[in-house]
Amino acid sequence: MTQTPEYYIGLMTGTSLDGVDAALVDFAGEKPHLAAALSLPLPGPLRAQLMQLQSQSPDELHLAQLASNALADLYAEAVARLLVESDLAAGNIRAIGNHGQTVRHRPELGYTVQLGNNARLAELTGIAVIGDFRSRDVAAGGQGAPLVPAFHQAIFGHTGEPCVVANIGGIANITILAADGEVTGFDTGPGNVLMDLWMLQHKGEHYDTGGAWAAQGHLQADLLQAMLSEPYFALLPPKSTGRDLFHGEWLQKHLGNARREPVNVQATLNTLTARTIADAIRLHAPQARAVYLCGGGAHNAHLQSQLQQWLPGQQVMTTAALGVDPDWVEAYAFAWLAWRCEHRMPGNLPGVTGAHGTRVLGAIWPA
Ligand SMILES: Nc1ncnc2c1ncn2[C@@H]1O[C@H](COP(=O)(O)OP(=O)(O)O)[C@@H](O)[C@H]1O
Ligand SMILES: [Mg+2]
Repeated sequence: MTQTPEYYIGLMTGTSLDGVDAALVDFAGEKPHLAAALSLPLPGPLRAQLMQLQSQSPDELHLAQLASNALADLYAEAVARLLVESDLAAGNIRAIGNHGQTVRHRPELGYTVQLGNNARLAELTGIAVIGDFRSRDVAAGGQGAPLVPAFHQAIFGHTGEPCVVANIGGIANITILAADGEVTGFDTGPGNVLMDLWMLQHKGEHYDTGGAWAAQGHLQADLLQAMLSEPYFALLPPKSTGRDLFHGEWLQKHLGNARREPVNVQATLNTLTARTIADAIRLHAPQARAVYLCGGGAHNAHLQSQLQQWLPGQQVMTTAALGVDPDWVEAYAFAWLAWRCEHRMPGNLPGVTGAHGTRVLGAIWPA
């Protein structure tokens, strides 16, 4: 007898501002099953608006609401396309788990802001929406991030081998899965965000495909050392970060007035990402046997080979080796978090975020 599917859709728009990822997940079986996924690019004007909202600007409350509405429209389009591709109707979906677009992340001040009008998304889709996942953890004294480690444990934690999952989005975060079942995790610092900025500035492209341009450059040791002096890297977890810290001015401050070949700066930024991830793994997970990459940075072959070079004791691969396409891990995680919320199960790991305890994460906009 075939089971009735229990479908959720996870939506992710990350700090890279590249697009919305949508994942259809069935939770009816013993293990969740990723049934379909797709990605829609962020239209240029919306991307520019969201970039502007990353820092203070005049009339930002009004602009944030307009961007929220535009995001909801894009999310609804992603959901509609996923339904068509999967030959499903809105009534087949229990809920959408919507991460939203982070524009401010200030847990030390007690808040984190993810835009995306969830009421509008529920109206447009006719599907219940679960969103605002991070606020409850922040209210409980946590960082509100990263939230993916609990999910990594749930779907990748069965191997019995100590390993690391490294999610390389705009910001990079790692999850350490110990052999005894213990889970830790934190944001290591920049993933693609600085490389993407430099790429746009000097090549007019959104990212460095495969890290090919970076691979042609020479490491600038002084620049790398200057950037590594950023206090965030030495902070002990729990910790999380975003464009609030790693932005264009941060990079400019370290570049100073020295004349440098752009390709060498790209090489150094690629190394910065690889070094800070590798350092975090060497310090916090020396026992790990394998490192599984996910997020868009998993496609950066130069980054992967640098990571492998600095982690000779670990095999560096992508989550494809564990049966999950690295592009969909995060959207999958937000479908999982929605399913947890719907069933009133906690979504956070206090050992990761620093919250006072486990909490059911998310708010519900019924269908
Ligand atoms: N083929 C590729 N080569 C190198 N980098 C890539 C490639 N594809 C995607 N990326 C990087 O991944 C980023 C998107 O990753 P993603 O996981 O969606 O991050 P976020 O969660 O921050 O949106 C892009 O901005 C780009 O920097
Ligand atoms: Mg993305």
